Amino acid sequence: MNKIYASLLLPLMLVASSCGSDKTPVCAHRDADLEARVEKTLKGMTLEEKAGQMVQLTISVLEDETHEALDPAKLDEIFGVYKVGSILNVMNGRAHSREQTAAMIRQIQEKSMEKIGIPCIYGLDMVHGANYLTDGTIFPHEINLAATFYPAFARRMGEVTAYETRAAMVPWVFTPTVDLGRDPRWPRIWENWGEDPFLATVMSVEETLGLQGEDPNHLDLEHTSATLKCFIAYSVPYTGKDRTPAYVPEHDLREKYFAPFLAGFKAGAHSIMVNSSSVNGMPVHANKTLLSGWAKEQTGWDGMIVTDWSDLNNLYERDHVAADKREAIKIGINAGVDMIMEPYDKECCKILVELARTGEIPMSRIDDAVRRILRLKYRAGLFDNPVWDTNAFPRFGSKEFAEDSYKAALESEILLKNQGALPIAEGSRILVAGPNANSLRTLNGGWSYTWQGEGDSYVPQYNTILEALSARFGEGNVIYEPGVTYDLSVNDWPRENAPEIGKAVAASRNADVIIVCVGENSYCETVGNIDDLNLSSNQKDLVRALAATGKPVVLVLNEGRPRIIGDIEPLVDAVVDVMLPGNYGGDALAALLSGDENFSAKLPFTYSKHINSLHTYDCDDAVDIQWPFGHGLSYTEYSYSDLRYEGPETFGAGDVLEFSVKVKNTGGRDGREAVLLYSSDLVASHIPDVKRLRAFTKIDLKSGESKVVRFEVPASSLAFVGADGKWRLEEGDFRFSCGGLSTTLHCSETKIWNTPNII
Ligand code: BGC
Repeated sequence: MNKIYASLLLPLMLVASSCGSDKTPVCAHRDADLEARVEKTLKGMTLEEKAGQMVQLTISVLEDETHEALDPAKLDEIFGVYKVGSILNVMNGRAHSREQTAAMIRQIQEKSMEKIGIPCIYGLDMVHGANYLTDGTIFPHEINLAATFYPAFARRMGEVTAYETRAAMVPWVFTPTVDLGRDPRWPRIWENWGEDPFLATVMSVEETLGLQGEDPNHLDLEHTSATLKCFIAYSVPYTGKDRTPAYVPEHDLREKYFAPFLAGFKAGAHSIMVNSSSVNGMPVHANKTLLSGWAKEQTGWDGMIVTDWSDLNNLYERDHVAADKREAIKIGINAGVDMIMEPYDKECCKILVELARTGEIPMSRIDDAVRRILRLKYRAGLFDNPVWDTNAFPRFGSKEFAEDSYKAALESEILLKNQGALPIAEGSRILVAGPNANSLRTLNGGWSYTWQGEGDSYVPQYNTILEALSARFGEGNVIYEPGVTYDLSVNDWPRENAPEIGKAVAASRNADVIIVCVGENSYCETVGNIDDLNLSSNQKDLVRALAATGKPVVLVLNEGRPRIIGDIEPLVDAVVDVMLPGNYGGDALAALLSGDENFSAKLPFTYSKHINSLHTYDCDDAVDIQWPFGHGLSYTEYSYSDLRYEGPETFGAGDVLEFSVKVKNTGGRDGREAVLLYSSDLVASHIPDVKRLRAFTKIDLKSGESKVVRFEVPASSLAFVGADGKWRLEEGDFRFSCGGLSTTLHCSETKIWNTPNII
């Protein structure tokens, strides 16, 4: 048994991060020797070299005409003349093998050392495993890992991602995504941990620690630098469309959206990436209060801020807060940006030099930015090891990592409804239908082999849902007739071919049960913008027609966001949301539908029922929804009893509240249950949230077995941010609930904190 499976067997208890005194948070992780090396390097640099370090270009600027190799003249120019400090992205816009990637980056690094004497830092979007390597391990996306309610998977994904990414000579990844997925229309919901700040905080800290390890100053060759993104509130655009403005009350920004970033700073995250759009009328790339104030000065965090793709250009091209490129760079750097993901225009280095010469950007700001960039490079170990032996990674692409990914997929697929259709009986004849039934691309989603996820051809060895079901139930028992298919001739989402629903209905004559796999094709960023959150009408028609046959129908949702199915859900017998479970998602589904394995995932978001009733669980609850946050069934039943508070009747701000609850598996199957503890502030000076998740754990329970689960909740973590922007815990009653039980306690004091961050 390998390390992770041993640790996965241990019950893991999580408590809210502790809050308390009026102290500045501990977000700087300084190492005196490292700082001395940073200062020494900085002192020896020319202004041109400093400007170059602040610029990141995309690899395409170095490619030759074949797009499969680097152009030596371009290498000389970019590093020799422009002194560029960082490169990102994949050659030719697609994944390559570990060996090809490493060889290409070795060339870049050797040129950087020859021409500048400072290592280049290469960054890649490895957001769910080594998704940009043809031979690496892909994990389920973050939204799936959130549904496991088991943070060990987030830690493990971080560890495996870092190991395999390093094996390809890449020391820096643009993950984890820590914004809150609170608007289901947004096309990047699947890149996040769902709607709850506490769940997102716990998961993103675990992934960060998995990526970087426990010592942020000395990464070894099995860890990579992490990037928390996209700072801040990128995930709630008013229109629901990617890269459009958000409007968020400041108290929510501080209390909810900032929480995962702050926790990530404390965990030592090396960098953050900025929200591509605006919050409350100000592009975040131009917002000094947020970048220099909230992220750096108020926390003491000493990491590095990189822009998102071409976003300083957006300050003049899209947002009109700058007249031209020069002014945009000046605004962005003065606001607190350290590195510009330009990504095409090398002349930006020269503009930076000019702005520094005229004093429009003070030298102190340039030095601060370069210091942070050098610190990142020292922390990642690049000065000591600009290149390394990429053959020394024996676990790369191993069976061990594949099993981790499979296990995560298994615990992430959510049983939302079951009126007896599941598990599917042995020997059943199954019709498999729907556009997602025979596609690997739809299981992996975006950021898989290519940006938009059209990567099936690189990895024919993995099973689609259809292939996995055929392997499990026998090819002779499985009939495939999709009824609806995606149009793959265009890389413009979403397009469907003319439906052939009649064929699927005809094929159902020979079936005992129908599994209809619907949802979305893969997409990423603005390409995934939609005008209607409803599942497509072709797909709904297919489900209606198949349901009308009278055969039991299992609806499998394979989607990056909760597409509305309110009108077809009553027609089907069972619903499973697999979301984006990765290369092993089909195998995991076959094991779950057959009953070889039991379901244990729960929704990390509210599943809305109507387009005009979008909702999050912490808000006013008079909304008709499909399924609530935390909903998820299994093949067994659990009963909860004896929710107890172990302490005096009233509590103060400094107390840690201890709870216990007994959970029993009352059904006939062994299972794993996520146990969730919520609090409700019953009366407050500012409308309190209906309830908030404060602690959770996941336990194994054999049929008939009971366990007592214990939780600890620091009273100060119940504080909220009032309209005046201050954290406050107010005297009054709080209800704690878990598994349908509740107990009410009294807080005996009001405490108001005078610092922006309490930890
Ligand atoms: C995305 C980021 C990504 C960056 C670099 C941007 O378009 O918004 O999430 O990290 O590109 O590829």
